[in-house]
Amino acid sequence: MERKRQRLVISLSALCLAVAVMSGALLPPRASAAGGVGRKRRWAGFDYYVLALQWPGTVCRQTSHCCSSNGCCRSHPLKFFTIHGLWPQYSYGGWPSCCRPTTFDGNKISRLKTILEEYWPSLYCGSFSTCFGGKRPFWVHEWETHGTCGYPEIQDEYDYFSTALYLYSKYNVTKALKKAHIYPRGGRKYLVGHIVSAIEFSFGAMPSIVCKNGSVQELRLCFHKDYQPRDCLVEGENSVRRNHCPRYVTLPSYKPHAFGSSTEGISNQVNVEHQSYQ
Ligand SMILES: *[C@@H]1O[C@H](CO)[C@@H](O)[C@H](O)[C@H]1NC(C)=O
Ligand SMILES: *[C@@H]1O[C@H](CO)[C@@H](O)[C@H](O)[C@H]1NC(C)=O
Repeated sequence: MERKRQRLVISLSALCLAVAVMSGALLPPRASAAGGVGRKRRWAGFDYYVLALQWPGTVCRQTSHCCSSNGCCRSHPLKFFTIHGLWPQYSYGGWPSCCRPTTFDGNKISRLKTILEEYWPSLYCGSFSTCFGGKRPFWVHEWETHGTCGYPEIQDEYDYFSTALYLYSKYNVTKALKKAHIYPRGGRKYLVGHIVSAIEFSFGAMPSIVCKNGSVQELRLCFHKDYQPRDCLVEGENSVRRNHCPRYVTLPSYKPHAFGSSTEGISNQVNVEHQSYQ
């Protein structure tokens, strides 16, 4: 397994993710040894994963403060979905959170830092509330809130972040949208059903979409514990797949906020802490 992981990291850090996937260099992380796709295994603590991706154009429009940790403040705007988090879920709805008290060990992911900064940036300045008090950076928040609930499939910080990166590169939504001739461009309107079916066509499973003010904020992909795609859950009549989404949505672009042009995000910080950011 260790060799597989090393190969994963090497190919990831080469930033040639798509090529790596196509050549089979990226091997899947440890599959659920117990198998049994879709079977509820209560002892294991969760039933499936959501890989939540965010559209920077929508998120960055809501922020107006800059700091070095905010991905919205890079000189070039982010024009692809970035990772929000990998979230263990229950098949009957809901999700576990804050499952084990841990002290985040940044050393465990030092080899992944460069690629995480590229594809998993925070889009806020403020720090995030953590499970057992305190405020920490985005990655720590995601690990504590969600990553600790992936046990035993997800054993540690390295497992958590590398698994998310693996899924993100293997199930490349940019590529899937391109295949359906959807090229995100600010100002243009897209039929939300078209986006959903483009993803479904490429990956064989239904995603869910979360919108904010008519724009796509998140695109979520769902996976069984063996990392095969599965449909995202539908809850009730007004499907979770189209959370707050009108029939037509935009994938807006944004102007990068000028770094250092304003005082470090006080209002942002408030925002992040009080909206119970997942
Ligand atoms: C996804 O695919 C696009 C090309 O369609 C590529 O530019 C991009 O690097 C890929 N992203 C990842 C994370 O592999
Ligand atoms: C909501 O969308 C409208 C139309 O696209 C836009 O004019 C308005 O500024 C947006 N509001 C916010 C708070 O983003």
